[in-house]
Amino acid sequence: MQTIKVKDKSFSLFIPEEKILAAVKRIAEQINKDYEGKEPVFLAVLNGSFIFASDLMKEVNIPCEISFVKLASYQGVSTTGQIREVIGLNVDLTGRPVIIVEDIVDTGLTMAHMLEVMEKQNPASIDICTLLLKPGKLQVNLDIKYCCMEIPNDFIVGYGLDYDGYGRNTRDIYTLVKS
Ligand code: IMP
Repeated sequence: MQTIKVKDKSFSLFIPEEKILAAVKRIAEQINKDYEGKEPVFLAVLNGSFIFASDLMKEVNIPCEISFVKLASYQGVSTTGQIREVIGLNVDLTGRPVIIVEDIVDTGLTMAHMLEVMEKQNPASIDICTLLLKPGKLQVNLDIKYCCMEIPNDFIVGYGLDYDGYGRNTRDIYTLVKS
């Protein structure tokens, strides 16, 4: 089994590139059908979604725009823990169909917050498109229309996802080797 080291931890091969790309293609085909004639705005959440967004967009063949936002953490107190500000939104979403592109939905708190912020921009609609979902970790009720793959509760890296900033630059996805 192929393993890699990211900082102080070992990770073993979990999802090979071919399987990821096949799943991404399948979701893009669904989007092409569902959004024909609708000219959606894809809103990719950096940093984690940069490779997924790139591969997804190569398979999307309808007229659309893509823009990128980032979640900046800042000190604050809220019931859900850390408050995260959405920065970098430079597209007018009023009346537009929006597709949020995320790397992974874990507890779902980040996505729930994203939805809350985006709804204030008065888009025509919002759909969620995530590469990965950990159904066993989900804490909030989210309607996830497009999900490439569901995975167990383990920590993963690669294909854009990081461990402490490292490990994003692999073609395959790796899972943490439990010691
Ligand atoms: P949530 O708010 O708990 O759904 O967390 C979502 C964010 O946590 C994702 O956008 C990732 O940045 C990060 N995350 C969650 N699980 C993992 C993982 O297994 N590996 C790397 N990052 C993760």
